[in-house]
Amino acid sequence: MPPQDIRSHNYDVVVIGAGGAGLRAAIEASAQQAKVALVCKSLLGKAHTVMAEGGAAAALGNVFPEDNWRVHFRDTMRGGKMHNDWRMAQIHAQEAPDRIKELEAWGALFDRTPDGRINQRPFGGHTYSRLAHVGDRTGLEMIRVLQDKGVHSGIDVHMECTIVQLFVVSGQIAGALGYFRETGRFVLFKTGAIVLATGGIGKAWQITSNSWEYTGDGHALAYEAGAELIDMEFVQFHPTGMVWPPSVRGILVTEGVRGEGGVLKNSKGERFMFRYMPEMFKGDYADTEAESDAWVKGDRTKNRRPPELLTRDVVAKAITKEIAEGRGTEHGGVFLDIASKQGPDYIKKKLPSMYHQFKELARVDITKDAMEIGPTTHYVMGGVKVDAETQESTVPGLYAAGEVGGGMHGANRLGGNSLSDLLVFGRRAGQYAAGKRGAAPAIPDAEVEQAMREALGAFEREGENPFAVQSALQAVMQRDAGIIRDKAGLENALAELEKLKGRARKVGVTGSREYNPGWHTAIDLTSLLIVSEATARAALERTESRGGHTRSDYPDSDEKQARQQIVIKKEGGRMAVRREAQPPIPADLLAVIKEGK
Ligand code: FUM
Repeated sequence: MPPQDIRSHNYDVVVIGAGGAGLRAAIEASAQQAKVALVCKSLLGKAHTVMAEGGAAAALGNVFPEDNWRVHFRDTMRGGKMHNDWRMAQIHAQEAPDRIKELEAWGALFDRTPDGRINQRPFGGHTYSRLAHVGDRTGLEMIRVLQDKGVHSGIDVHMECTIVQLFVVSGQIAGALGYFRETGRFVLFKTGAIVLATGGIGKAWQITSNSWEYTGDGHALAYEAGAELIDMEFVQFHPTGMVWPPSVRGILVTEGVRGEGGVLKNSKGERFMFRYMPEMFKGDYADTEAESDAWVKGDRTKNRRPPELLTRDVVAKAITKEIAEGRGTEHGGVFLDIASKQGPDYIKKKLPSMYHQFKELARVDITKDAMEIGPTTHYVMGGVKVDAETQESTVPGLYAAGEVGGGMHGANRLGGNSLSDLLVFGRRAGQYAAGKRGAAPAIPDAEVEQAMREALGAFEREGENPFAVQSALQAVMQRDAGIIRDKAGLENALAELEKLKGRARKVGVTGSREYNPGWHTAIDLTSLLIVSEATARAALERTESRGGHTRSDYPDSDEKQARQQIVIKKEGGRMAVRREAQPPIPADLLAVIKEGK
C-alpha cells in the first residue's frame, strides 16, 4: 500500500534547485526529450545566482583580443591555488564563451562595447577584462532569461517544495521525498536521475550574503545518499559585504565596485592592499597608486591591475588583518571608495544596484562617500564529488551542478566563474542525466513512511525552539570556522556541533503543517549540522593554509598537500574523513599554467 498522505509523480529527470544551474540543467534535459521536474525550495528564480552581480567570466576576447581559454584556465588554476580539478577547469574555460553567446541568443541584454559586442569588465584574479555583465545585475538577468527559456521548454515546476530525502535502491537513485511548504503535504518524485543544483551552505554562518534557502540541503542529501563530498574546508569569504547598519550586515557589495576602480582604505586613510601582494602575483599588479590610477583610466599597456583586484582570498584576509590590528572603521569594517575614482554618472550607470542599496539601506551616497565593508560568507568551493565530464556523483543517477558540485574552483573561486560554471556544468548535468532515463527502481513504501515520520518528528515533541539551535550553530561556525581557523577552535566547533546535534534531535514545533517556519527550520537543522561538521572536520584535517582556508597554526601552504583532497563520506552511521591524491595535471596543461610567468 502506498502511503496515504502523499502525491507521487514519475519523471525521467528531477532537478532540485532552480537557480542558474538548475534551470540550465532542466532546459538541457528537456531539450533531450526527457520528462523533467524542476523542484525549488523557494519561488522560481529566487536564487543565490542573483548575488553574482558583477558578471559571468568567459574568454570572449571582446575587450582584450589576446584573451583565450588558455589564459582563463591558467587564471582559474592559479586563483584556486592549484587545487582545482584540472579537467573541470579546462572544460569550463573552453565552453564558457559558447554558453554566454547562447544566453545572448536566448535574450540576455548584456552591456555593450562601443562597437556593439558584449562588454567585459575586470575582476579579481582575471588577467584580462573578462566578465560579461549587465550593470551590477548580471545574475538577475541570467535568471530572467533562463526562466523565460525554461517555462517554454515544457518543464514541470514544483515551487516552495523542500526535498527531505533521496532514495537509493540497489545502488541506484530511485527518487526523492519532499513537502510543499505552503500546505505541508508530502510529494514523492520517482525517477532514475536527479540533478542537485541547490547552491551553497552560507546560512551556517552569522555573516553571509546568502539568504534563508542556503542551508546546504543538496550537500546533505548527497551525503546521506552515500555520495562523497570534497573540499569542504574551502569556504569563500567575499571581501566586501555591508557592515552597517546591523540589519544589513553581510549583504553583498559586488566586486564590480573594485572592477570599476573602487579602492580599499583603512581608518588611517591608507590604501593598504599594496602591502599584501603575494609572491605568486608579483608583476601582475600595480606597485603604485599612479600606476593603478592610469590602469583604471584605460592605460592597459602593461596591464598591471589595481591590487584591489587580487583574488578574493587574498583581499578578504588583508581586510581581516587591517581590522584585527586596529585600523578598521567604527563598525568593524574598512572603507571601499569609488567616489574619488569615478564620476557620479559613471557610478550610477555601471553600479545602479549598489547606488540604490547604499542609499536606501545605509543612507550613504556612494557617488560622494566611501562605503563601509567587511568580509561575508559567500560561497563554498567544496561540494559533491562529481565526474568532470558528466557531473555524476559517486552514486549512480545522482548528479550535481553549480555551487553544490565540488572540484572546479579548487581552494578559491575567481569572481565571475560561478555564473559561467553553472551554465557550463548545468548544461552537462542535464544532458547526461537525460541520457540515464529508464525505469527507476521501485522505492519500498516502508522507506517512504519512515522518511515522512522523521520529517514530522518535531511535531511530536515539546522541545526547544529550532531557531535557537540554528542561531547557536551560526555563532559556533562564525567564531570557530570563520576566515581564520586553528586546531583548538575547530575541535571546539566539533564538540559544540555534537551538543547541537543532541539539541536538534529534541526541538519541538507547534501549529499546523501549513507554512510553519518553525517546522521548516527544524528540517533545515539536519542539513546545517551535516555541512558544518563536514567543514570543521575537513578544516581540521588540512594542516596548511591554502586559498579560502587559513589556519593560524599552519600559516604557510604545504605543496605536498596542494593536490590532496579531503574526502567526506558517511560510513557506518558516522562521518569518515580521508585524504585522496587528485590525478596529476597533464604536462601540456601544466605548460599552459606556466605560460604567464
Ligand atoms: O561580487 C560579485 O559580483 C559576485 C560575483 C561572484 O560571486 O561571482
